[in-house]
Amino acid sequence: MHHVTLIPGDGIGPEITQAAVRVIEASGVAIAWDRQLAGMAAVEADGTPLPESTLASLRRTRLALKGPLTTPVGGGYRSVNVALRQEFDLFANVRPACSLAGTQSPFQNVDLVIVRENTEGLYAGVEHFIKAQGQTIAAESTAIVTRAGCERIIDYAFRYAEQNRRRKVTIVHKANILKCTSGLFLEIGREVAQRYPHIQCEERIVDACAMQLVMNPQQFDVLVTTNLFGDILSDLAAGLVGGLGLTAGANIGQEAAIFEPVHGSAPDLAGQNRANPTAMILAGVMLLDYLGETQAARRIEQAVRAVIEEGAWVTPDLKPGSTCTTLQMAEAIAAKLTSL
Ligand code: NAI
Repeated sequence: MHHVTLIPGDGIGPEITQAAVRVIEASGVAIAWDRQLAGMAAVEADGTPLPESTLASLRRTRLALKGPLTTPVGGGYRSVNVALRQEFDLFANVRPACSLAGTQSPFQNVDLVIVRENTEGLYAGVEHFIKAQGQTIAAESTAIVTRAGCERIIDYAFRYAEQNRRRKVTIVHKANILKCTSGLFLEIGREVAQRYPHIQCEERIVDACAMQLVMNPQQFDVLVTTNLFGDILSDLAAGLVGGLGLTAGANIGQEAAIFEPVHGSAPDLAGQNRANPTAMILAGVMLLDYLGETQAARRIEQAVRAVIEEGAWVTPDLKPGSTCTTLQMAEAIAAKLTSL
């Protein structure tokens, strides 16, 4: 029996979490879920976005399947996602984007993985307003980039490539302009690449990389980059393979890991049972892989692919006009599992 913290989250989170749990149960893997609150749901229940009970559960299980959490724009509390990544030192954010037959995307055969540094850069939270005569006249932000931080994320990307039979790592940077922060990342990238002579290494400036990703995404394999660039490029990559409803990510540290969809809480869909559960189910697949339940992970992946390709039980983001609900899509995937 595996013990995993389950954070349904905000907006569409509870709906897609119920769907993912249903599919994982159907795979036969025994998981004891410890349900906990975070984000807006926790503010409403406990008055704080990250309750001590949630942290205690995570310290115990060191593992979570997490739905999206709403973060107020501008003011309000600090992102709980960022806080969790820093608290558990989840330095590697691994976000695969892989084409699925049956989705409406201009691209086929995309199979890339973005490895994003998850604890430093402009997300370090070192920013402040400068005020004069009662007025905000400026805002300053400091990007923190350390040698140790660059080394461990770039080494993670090369090891990931090695272990997953991938052939190339692209280091994405902006060292032409950000000569210190991005410059250090690139310099260390070149050093680390020398330890992996059997894996091809290339460099791309982030803006050109964004253009190449939408011109010819098939040329990419593993991409490694700093926090903000990785956040933006991974949503772009989700768009290449059919949208945010389809892509999942893992936040990995030395001693803990949190699995989640790439998308947010989608307030425009909340409570309607219309959200696509695939991203959350694929986050569950990444969790099962991490737990060593690789057979169940492959079966769920296959069932998801089959249901999307057949197109009879898919949510409206995949088939406009469809009346299929989040849970009906999950049930179709669960039923497919039993026939595999
Ligand atoms: P979003 O990802 O929630 O939504 C963007 C668009 O994608 C919306 O049109 C939405 O309907 C659609 N979408 C997202 N997930 C979908 C799904 N499963 N099925 C079908 N369509 C889907 O991004 P948005 O609106 O910018 O953010 C909403 C909230 O989520 C914000 O408070 C933001 O901070 C938070 N957020 C949380 C994340 C996390 O917890 N890891 C990640 C990104 C955003």
